Amino acid sequence: MPTDFATRLVRWQRAHGRHDLPWQVRDPYQVWLSEIMLQQTQVATVIPYFQRFTESFPTVADLAAAPLDVVLAHWAGLGYYTRARNLHKAAQAVMRDFAGVVPPSAVQMETLPGIGRSTAAAIAGFCFGERTPILDGNVKRVLTRWAGIEGFPGEKKIENRLWQLAEDLLPASADDMPAFTQGIMDLGATVCTRSKPQCPRCPLRDDCRAHIEGRQAELPTRKPKKTIPERATVMLLVLDQGRILLEQRPPTGIWGGLWSLPETDAVATAPTLCRERFGLEVVPETALPPLVHVFTHFRLTITPLPVVLTGAAGVAEGSARWFGRAEALKAGIPTPVRKLLLAGMPKG
Ligand code: ADE
Repeated sequence: MPTDFATRLVRWQRAHGRHDLPWQVRDPYQVWLSEIMLQQTQVATVIPYFQRFTESFPTVADLAAAPLDVVLAHWAGLGYYTRARNLHKAAQAVMRDFAGVVPPSAVQMETLPGIGRSTAAAIAGFCFGERTPILDGNVKRVLTRWAGIEGFPGEKKIENRLWQLAEDLLPASADDMPAFTQGIMDLGATVCTRSKPQCPRCPLRDDCRAHIEGRQAELPTRKPKKTIPERATVMLLVLDQGRILLEQRPPTGIWGGLWSLPETDAVATAPTLCRERFGLEVVPETALPPLVHVFTHFRLTITPLPVVLTGAAGVAEGSARWFGRAEALKAGIPTPVRKLLLAGMPKG
């Protein structure tokens, strides 16, 4: 029987994990503060902020009594300021509802603003040896790889499975909880990294599914790409004596204010559009191969349609006018229009 997960992790943490972080203390207030600062921020960035913060507000009572402005000034540069506002509110709740003592259980901590399930578990594990699992992004990566769990970990069903697994893997003894909790964080941050994991240094490699099957790069499963909506348009190439008809787009919406090719929904509606909008008589030719342009929120399929002027070119009416090639390329024009002009307009 191989040594169990928790035993190996705890041994590894004691020998190879991080031991000199300024918040590796037993004061729940300081541990709590560090966990909040570390939620969206790297260790190296957090260290000087943590030091200044604990110098100015050494206890939860000092924090609760400080004006919010002063607290925010200590957070300036760390980002995600809701964290600081919640922390301040939570410090006041500790004074009011818990007699100034950080409550010694994860369930009670979770009632405080800004403390979620994993953060509460980390504080309770570090400070009180409470046998409650943490599950942040790093831990999700370690567990999905070790157990070979497929599916995006942000999905509720997968996340629930991971919480259960994290619970099942806890060490038997409360004394091991601080090293276990720090160990799974350290392993995720330093060995079981997202890219180029250092498997030879990992205490869990012998029974890690991802390592055994060489699937480290596939796990955790990435967030499924949202399928973006498709839109289609027909862009008219109205040419007359080396000049092309461009129309200025309305100031708002996609390509707002840029000069672009006149657009219509379908090839058949091109003559009507040209007559009604620009006072031009045209006959469509054969459409060119479509061009796909991808925006953040949708994909646009552009069918370029050359049309032949049958009447006089005249002065185009409305928001459209004639451009020479060089002039058009100098104007503000959308990328796909530029491509079409470069491919389809004579240099002359
Ligand atoms: N990230 C979140 N909590 C941490 C901790 N206690 N030590 C290092 N990195 C962390």
